[in-house]
Amino acid sequence: MKNPHILIVDFGSQLSKVIVRALQELGHRSALLSPKKAEAYLKENRVEAIILSGGDRSVNEKGAPTISKKVFSMGIPILGICYGHQLIAKILGGKVGQTSAGANYGPTQVSIRGRFSFFDNLPGQNKVWASHRESVTEIPLGFDLTACYSKTGTIAAIENRDKQIWGVQFHPESPETDSGKLMLQNFVQKIAGCEKDWQPRNMIEELQEELRDSTKGEPTLIALSGGVDSTTLCSLAAPVLGQSLKVVCQDGGQLRHNEPLEIRRNARVAGVRVFIQNRKAEFAALWEFQIKKKSLYSAEIKRLLFQGEYEKGLGAEAKRFGSRILAQGSLAPDFIETTGAGSHIKSHHNIGVTVPGCKSIHPFRHLFKHEVRSLAKELGLPEAVVSRQPFPGPGLFIRIIGMWPTTRHLQTVRLADHIVTEILRRRGLYDGISQLVVGLGGVLTTGVKGDEGVYNYPIIVRAVKTVDYMTAEGIELPPEARQEITSALTARGHICRVWFDETPKPPGTVEEE
Ligand code: XMP
Repeated sequence: MKNPHILIVDFGSQLSKVIVRALQELGHRSALLSPKKAEAYLKENRVEAIILSGGDRSVNEKGAPTISKKVFSMGIPILGICYGHQLIAKILGGKVGQTSAGANYGPTQVSIRGRFSFFDNLPGQNKVWASHRESVTEIPLGFDLTACYSKTGTIAAIENRDKQIWGVQFHPESPETDSGKLMLQNFVQKIAGCEKDWQPRNMIEELQEELRDSTKGEPTLIALSGGVDSTTLCSLAAPVLGQSLKVVCQDGGQLRHNEPLEIRRNARVAGVRVFIQNRKAEFAALWEFQIKKKSLYSAEIKRLLFQGEYEKGLGAEAKRFGSRILAQGSLAPDFIETTGAGSHIKSHHNIGVTVPGCKSIHPFRHLFKHEVRSLAKELGLPEAVVSRQPFPGPGLFIRIIGMWPTTRHLQTVRLADHIVTEILRRRGLYDGISQLVVGLGGVLTTGVKGDEGVYNYPIIVRAVKTVDYMTAEGIELPPEARQEITSALTARGHICRVWFDETPKPPGTVEEE
């Protein structure tokens, strides 16, 4: 297999790996490299197209990542996205700075002026995804303005067709950009003339081969959550590992209503048997200790404590089964958000899990959720697994927002989640939601029930729409559904308030913590 002909220079955006995935969907492999490595790659490989990714810095900042000006005169078509677009402007003589329109986060509209080359076959108005504080304020000499933001008139896209350079301020790689795929296709296929070199159906064989190589028949443990990632991993691994595969799931009290049953069912369809460890007492003791100690509350510490206890549970099972390998279904976004090409967002429980005597492997580390879903489909897993909404490993613990979990909080949030889920299912809304988050807000609010004043935590309801979970749109639930949810929830115990959270990601995250 040859090295990819498309080079993506990674300036640290959360979306850099999304560009890789979007290109794969178009049938292209690509190399995602830091600016330094990218320049070395350019010397040694035939590169047909270069994409400069977004980034989390300002191009005007001292020490901000950059690329040699020489790259722009190599005759290779270049597309700059967000930070990459600003870098093009800055390096080639334009200006970048803050505009009176201010920062731009989330969905917005652009008006396209030149509907050829990059914007070939696109409508004049397009919904795009933006995430930037600064903009190009002065276009470099020789460049044309090809799109601007409809509301503010700010520069949204530029091009220099003679020099084969294109720049867009928004993110065509984001699934939230309506015709983003077509823009990227125009760039790699029509402009750069790249041939297709990647097929999704190769994925199963490649992954099973990798599993065979990395496990070498050694006893292997998979931590199953029942979600699409770990269930798909089990289904993929079962025929490769046979008897040397053991599957465990920890019930520490973080699971939803009837979830252990669902996990057993999913294990069965994946061709494995799961052992569910009852670890409720250990997790309850962990949180009780924090409460007793009056520990300063921190969501990050909660996540790390969860991870530590989770590791202990895995360690016990690994010892019992004599496992030498720990295989997990962690995805690319987990790594991006934890280790970060850019800055640290939050620790996901499955990254950095170490079990003494076990080597950790993450066969899905380069995949995004929708790719695992295609894999699950290809493997013949039922629709309920293929399209199952994700649920975080720390589960209801991180849905108790801003507080250490107690048994009572867990009961409340589990019941609330069940009530909201049932209402949305009955109304036919659940399947249109990428992820539902029902949480208990850690701030006491005043209410009145009957003639009595009550003082209690609000239930937070959040529904998002997303493909890759790197960006997401907050869904505004229909008013009748909101009303039904509010009355059903407030009919229970002391719940006196329901908050609906429609914040997109960014700036929010999918979970509240
Ligand atoms: P965020 O909140 O980071 O969520 O926007 C993105 C996706 O990841 C899930 N998530 C987790 N999954 N362990 C997990 O297994 C975690 O610690 C964790 N934190 C967030 C989240 O539910 C969403 O699907």
